[in-house]
Amino acid sequence: MADMKDILTIALSKGRIFKDTAPLLKAADIEPLEDPETSRKLIIDTNRDNVKLLVIRATDVPTYVQHGAADLGVVGKDVLMEHGGQDVYELLDLQIARCKLMVAGFPDRPLPEAGLKVATKFVNCTRHYFAQQGRQVDVIKLYGSMELAPLVGLADCIVDVVDTGNTLRANGLAPLEHMADITSRLIVNKASMKLKHAPIRDLLAHIQAAVEQRNNA
Ligand code: ATP
Ligand code: PRP
Repeated sequence: MADMKDILTIALSKGRIFKDTAPLLKAADIEPLEDPETSRKLIIDTNRDNVKLLVIRATDVPTYVQHGAADLGVVGKDVLMEHGGQDVYELLDLQIARCKLMVAGFPDRPLPEAGLKVATKFVNCTRHYFAQQGRQVDVIKLYGSMELAPLVGLADCIVDVVDTGNTLRANGLAPLEHMADITSRLIVNKASMKLKHAPIRDLLAHIQAAVEQRNNA
């Protein structure tokens, strides 16, 4: 059994992040002993005695890493920006789950100059983006299906991630303003980086090599 101080916990979310991260972990010789997509377990053992995976909601990953409940995490830059990134270092851009954070709305309806209502789950990013431009907004917090908000008059526009644009198109909406390019990042708790320096550097080197190998393939 590995000593606790040598155990590394990595927080991940199911779905696209796990799917895209699994090959990178495998290249670092880390393989889950159970499939996180189907298992009801929240702590998944791996083939390595000293590595465990925590399977949590995407938006909770920075919180676990911030407080040291996980040493490392894989998280979208959108979620990381929204969280603020306190007490974590961003170690590596994994270049997975690529999308864009955008303002979206009706293609043929200019946004009102004053009293703009924006629906989003990214309230901090949204406030910051509009404040920087000196635009006053009323931000309405939602937890999903943002595209519905303009259709039913809840908001003039939304802030959400866009990839193919299919979801916007299917709802008669279009991207209006580009806020940020998004990919997923490997993050680490600042204290873990000091206390578990050697195993983290080792893991980072393997994952970095796997990202480069994949990009050159
Ligand atoms: P939660 O389950 O906590 O609400 P979520 O539904 O946003 O989070 P995912 O849909 O798995 O979780 O998205 C994880 C990350 O993948 C997002 O933070 C974002 O960076 C990226 N992402 C989201 N949607 C897309 C998409 N359609 N295409 C590519 N990447 C995306
Ligand atoms: C995300 C996002 C958009 C959609 C954009 O939702 O919230 O709705 O992807 O992708 P597109 O531009 O390729 O259509 P997701 O599929 O993750 O579902 P969710 O509502 O569970 O987050």
